[in-house]
Amino acid sequence: MSALHQSTETLSRQERVVLNLYVITGLAVLVLMMLGGIAMRMSQGTWIELPPDLFYQIMTAHGAAMVGIAGLTSSAVMWYFLRKYVSLSPGIFLANYVLFMVGAVLILGSIFILQFGGGWTFLYPLPVKSNGMWSVHAAAGYMLGLISIGVGFLLFYLDATLAILRVYGNLGRALGLQWLFSGDIDKSHPPTVVASTMVIIVNGIGTLVGAVVLVLCLVNAYVPAFELNPLLAKNMIYFFGHVFINASIYMGVIAVYELLPRYSGRPWGVSRPFLWAWAASTVMVLIVYPHHLLMDFVMPHWMLAMGQIISFTSGLPVLAVTAYGALTNVHRSGIRWSMPAKLLLLSMFGWAAGIIPAVIDGVISVNRVMHNTLWVPGHFHFYLLLGLWAMLFGFMYHVIRTRADEPDSAVDQLGFFAYLAGGLVFSGMLLMAGQASVPRRWAVHAPEWVPYASAASLAAILVVLATILFAVRIVSGLLRAPNVGTAH
Ligand code: HEM
Repeated sequence: MSALHQSTETLSRQERVVLNLYVITGLAVLVLMMLGGIAMRMSQGTWIELPPDLFYQIMTAHGAAMVGIAGLTSSAVMWYFLRKYVSLSPGIFLANYVLFMVGAVLILGSIFILQFGGGWTFLYPLPVKSNGMWSVHAAAGYMLGLISIGVGFLLFYLDATLAILRVYGNLGRALGLQWLFSGDIDKSHPPTVVASTMVIIVNGIGTLVGAVVLVLCLVNAYVPAFELNPLLAKNMIYFFGHVFINASIYMGVIAVYELLPRYSGRPWGVSRPFLWAWAASTVMVLIVYPHHLLMDFVMPHWMLAMGQIISFTSGLPVLAVTAYGALTNVHRSGIRWSMPAKLLLLSMFGWAAGIIPAVIDGVISVNRVMHNTLWVPGHFHFYLLLGLWAMLFGFMYHVIRTRADEPDSAVDQLGFFAYLAGGLVFSGMLLMAGQASVPRRWAVHAPEWVPYASAASLAAILVVLATILFAVRIVSGLLRAPNVGTAH
């Protein structure tokens, strides 16, 4: 067995099959939805002509599928490593996948057969106020699809919670709260357990709130007299959406804690600042969401002020300890910069740099002019492409790799630079367009905005080519290498 892979990560045949399902589905959806994204950007750039109704259907599918698949693929990272410390059920992991696929079929059917195009955020009451563009059943099918996906995640988190409780007694101990102020920290306490515990707390609550508001919206769809308070519904929806996508990166970052030390040859132990960072982010990620509602002047002002202030600090503690930890872990370690190590370090840059535009947009006076511009997609495409997906690709390249000193092929290296350059220019163009006040979610762009879309389309082609290359390498590696089950 190579030093890279640990015996505790050994997968049974069934587990290997399910992991392969997660990874291959993740890559397939990513590539397909990137192609949808390119079609949208090319249409905004007048390279092709998408009728507006089709544009909004693609935009809805792209948003929902990209967020969903980021969550699903990240949950595979959490499952893969958390299994080493607590006993997780492969059946529940499979059930999460099956419920996700059921949800995906419902969502895609409601969009591309029943023509739902209300945006992935299903903002009440838009899904049922379509002006005759789609039926109530289309909106209901979309929302049922999201509920199915949510139930799958809740099952997975419930299983992880029970497994953690069996070993650590309570969630506070798993988070390491007992060492916040004093005491000798058990250096062998796994960062993976700390991160997973944070995720099950925040995303358990977030997904539950999302499921509740979805069920209420469904009732309203068929019993219109049952009206919701639109502001409350919006709060619940954005709470859910914000927490869900943030939780994806907190699941993905487990790959950095687990793998970077193996490539650098240096351990990554927990420390008091590390535990404080995760504890603080557990609270802050739950209360920062009002920064999505800064334009809703009817919101209680204290909540808007909180949204702004916590925006400055919410992701910072975990990001700071992780980025600093990663840099000190590799500094002068003699690390060999193979694909997993390169991608994991790139993810630190993508995450850190991608958060900066969000912090800027979280300032109320800036938000007033920037919020509905392409600045916002600029921020999240930056940290999702170059942060989260870099982590996930790093994990996948690791899974198919057998020896630490295995050289990267020239094709991999080319793919890495194409992905980095394409990702930077693509997100940069969205940010520049946002800075020039180009609105987001407009199917048709004014002539002055077209150059941004054209340049972004070129860069997006580079990104998708690199992604296809990664996908081919990873999938062929997975199908070839039974060492996912033996050497890992
Ligand atoms: C080659 C890669 C990609 C391309 C070309 C692309 C393109 C686009 C475009 C053109 C939009 C609409 C922007 C607007 O006018 O408002 C969009 C929105 C969006 N994208 Fe992407 N994207 C890509 C990758 C990703 C990834 C990797 C994710 C997430 C992991 C993602 C998540 C989203 C979300 C959540 C929206 C918002 C949809 C909405 O406003 O309802 N995209 N993307």
